[in-house]
Amino acid sequence: MKPDCVRKNLQGEVLARIQQAGFTVVGMKQINMTKAMAEGFYAVHKGRPFFDGLVEFMTSGACVPVALEKDNAVADYRTLIGATDPKDAAPGTIRKDFADNKGENIVHGSDSAENGIIEVSYFFAQTELL
Ligand code: RTP
Ligand code: MG
Repeated sequence: MKPDCVRKNLQGEVLARIQQAGFTVVGMKQINMTKAMAEGFYAVHKGRPFFDGLVEFMTSGACVPVALEKDNAVADYRTLIGATDPKDAAPGTIRKDFADNKGENIVHGSDSAENGIIEVSYFFAQTELL
């Protein structure tokens, strides 16, 4: 969950939707990312025009990283959250219902199972996971 989600007090509503969709919460915490952490997390986008704004946004307040487990998790979670830009997101998706714009879009989602494992280890020690 990104800083806009925390600022809007939507953590509970967003998590409820995720759980209702069949995901198991394997790990969860609240953190303030440093600039270096945010740059590392989104390193794949380094050099893109939106990168500096993205890092600024991701360090503008607390985030709530959540490690999730489910069969077909990546695709099912993408369906649940909707397109990157809420204008393009399907009705009933988390981003359609809660996001303000393409940059501030409430939640992150891993784009592959492989990156999901890397991203979980970016935020969680083994002792913090089910
Ligand atoms: P995410 O990685 O956060 O789950 O989002 P995503 O896969 O749907 O989108 P991605 O292309 O990976 O972009 C990462 C995040 O960068 C911000 N962004 N802003 N203003 C823009 O044109 C723009 N494009 C991307 C968004 O916060 C997006 O989620
Ligand atoms: Mg992405």
